[in-house]
Amino acid sequence: MLETDRYALVQRLLHWLIAFLVLGALGVGMTLGFLGFEGTQATFGKMMTNALYTGHKTFGVLILALMLLRLGIRSILGAPPYRSPLSGFERVASRAVHSLLYVALLLMPVLGWLATAAGGYPVQFFAWNLPGLISKDQALSEVLFSLHGMVGWVIVGLLVLHIGGAMQHWLIKRDGVMQRMSLFR
Ligand code: HEM
Repeated sequence: MLETDRYALVQRLLHWLIAFLVLGALGVGMTLGFLGFEGTQATFGKMMTNALYTGHKTFGVLILALMLLRLGIRSILGAPPYRSPLSGFERVASRAVHSLLYVALLLMPVLGWLATAAGGYPVQFFAWNLPGLISKDQALSEVLFSLHGMVGWVIVGLLVLHIGGAMQHWLIKRDGVMQRMSLFR
């Protein structure tokens, strides 16, 4: 168990790195989903379209790897105790949102990976192609991509609640909750 009232530096670095990658993956993913492959090519050109798809997949795979690392580290270090105790509602709500974010951020890259592989497309990670893990199946790919889209909106909803809660602690209650995860004092 941690003895200070802040997460360990490695946990705080992972939090903000994953936050950056998730916002990037959501922004690019929604652009690709909204415009589709042809629409993206017509808007951004061929080279940029390839970069957007490769970048999106690379960010997604990185999120999966970093989330697994984060869970492993949390199982060893735990979480620091709250300086001023949370109300019953805050405890239940934050636990629910945090747990759902963990589940969604692990599920989302797995869905993207399998949807891509089932569609017969490469699972790119920087300049490498990772194993697809399942064989080509167009109907399955469509189902998985539509789940990928739905979980994307669930993540957006969870982020609104998560960021709203953090802002409330930081700017209104000023109870030190934000400092638990911030990089600077
Ligand atoms: C946490 C990680 C990820 C997030 C937050 C995310 C988010 C999204 C979102 C919101 C969309 C738009 C869906 C739609 O509106 O239909 C999308 C599309 C897409 N995602 Fe992901 N994604 C993640 C991981 C991955 C991974 C790991 C891969 C593959 C290796 C992947 C492959 C794709 C592809 C190919 C599309 C475009 C689908 C199309 O052209 O319609 N994603 N992603």
